[in-house]
This record gives sequence, C-alpha cells and structure tokens, in this order.
Amino acid sequence: MNKEVLIKINNLKKTYLGPPKVEVLKGVTLDIYKNEILAITGESGSGKTTLLNLIGGIDSITSGSICIEDKEIEKMNESELASFRNTSLGYVFQFHNLLGEFTALENVMLPSLMTKYNKKDSSQRAEHLLELVGLQNRMTHRIGELSGGEAQRVAIARALINFPLVLLADEPTGNLDKKNADTVQEMLWDMSKKIGFTLILVTHSQSQAKLTDRKLKLEYGETLTEY
Ligand SMILES: Nc1ncnc2c1ncn2[C@@H]1O[C@H](COP(=O)(O)OP(=O)(O)OP(=O)(O)O)[C@@H](O)[C@H]1O
Ligand SMILES: [Mg+2]
Repeated sequence: MNKEVLIKINNLKKTYLGPPKVEVLKGVTLDIYKNEILAITGESGSGKTTLLNLIGGIDSITSGSICIEDKEIEKMNESELASFRNTSLGYVFQFHNLLGEFTALENVMLPSLMTKYNKKDSSQRAEHLLELVGLQNRMTHRIGELSGGEAQRVAIARALINFPLVLLADEPTGNLDKKNADTVQEMLWDMSKKIGFTLILVTHSQSQAKLTDRKLKLEYGETLTEY
C-alpha cells in the first residue's frame, strides 16, 4: 500500500465549553495515509464524531493542529475553508441530508454547480457516479421516492462529485438493514479503490471495521489503539 501521509493530526484537543464543560479530545496524534480505508471505533460518547467534524472543518479545534496536504485547517480563513470543504472533502452521515424535493441527479450535481464546473460537466459526472452506485434507473426519482439504502447511495455519489481527497463517513450504514448496509459498504470500498480517495469510517460495526486497511479504537479521548 502507498504510505504517503495525507492528514497529519498533532496533539489535537477539543473541549466543549458548555456549561457543563466537556473535555472530549485530550491530545490526539495520528497520521492518515493517502487512499487508505481507516476505521475509527470506540464507545458511544468517546469523541468519534467530534474528531471527524474537526477533520472536516465543521467545528473549530481547541488546540493542536490538523494538516491536510500540508494545509493547516485552522489557519484558513472562512472563504478558504468553505472552498476547501466543498472541493477536497466529502461527507456521508448516518442520516442523509439530501434535498427531498429534488431528484437524485439534481442532488448529486449541486455541490459541483457550486464550484467551477458547468451544468453539462456536472450532470455527466453525476450520472456516472449514480451508475457506479447502481442507481442508473433512479436518476429522476425524487429523494422521497427512494428507499433508505438508495438514498444513502445518492448521498455517497453526492459526496464524491467534486473529486474529494477524503471521504468522511460517520456511521454511513448505521440506519440500514444488514443487506442494504452490506451493499453500501461494498460500494464505498469499491469506489475508494476505483476513484482513489481516503475513506475515514466511523463505525460501531466490528464486522465492517474488520474489512478496512486499519482499525483504531478511540479511548480516553486520547489514545487511538490499533487492533
Ligand atoms: N456541541 C456539543 N456541545 C457540548 N458537548 C458536546 C457537543 N457535541 C458532543 N458533545 C459531547 O462530547 C462527547 C463526545 O461526543 P461525540 O458525538 O463525538 O461522540 P461519539 O463517539 O461520536 O458517540 P456516538 O458513538 O454515540 O455517536 C459526548 O459526551 C457529547 O455529549
Ligand atoms: Mg457519533
């Protein structure tokens, strides 16, 4: 495997000021490699989502640093961060936040239209991604007309439209039954190898974690134990 470091996290701390004050991350240090599939597990409340949100620039760090491709997230101004989030990172959550009134195709195209791509390029790539997730026959369905598993596949296609370096996935199959969860998981793995991106997967499923390149358990807000 290519061991080029893509994300460097150094002594990362996060305290929610509350009240009550919650010290969630107390000094996390971690290298994440280019194109690896990394699982992060840990007890409920251990800080997995917090860590993912900090990597994604969704929430601000208390101290320490996160560098992605040598760019330090906390040193970016608001517009740099917004553009970085839209072009370098993709997000998939447990509950998709797709726009219900729009079609699958429109939802997938949207982040691309917000960048430099025109409508024709955006629509072509969106169609290609929807084919890759097996939804070639659902492109013009509105989100409300899709099953949960199908909607989650649309969310994955949308997250990948701007060629992200990293896909941040927070329990992406947590809301699906076993069969759909397996389909979505296989799709994610397949796409990560075909398209080439780093997948950081937060999961409670040990069977899913087993299938990754590396699995780390977050403990005491500090230690990431490889197991
Ligand atoms: N915005 C917030 N303000 C205050 N405390 C918060 C906030 N977000 C999370 N916390 C607290 O931080 C801790 C870590 O939360 P986090 O969501 O990161 O856990 P998690 O590991 O993702 O848990 P789960 O597996 O249940 O999703 C929890 O104790 C939570 O109550
Ligand atoms: Mg969580």
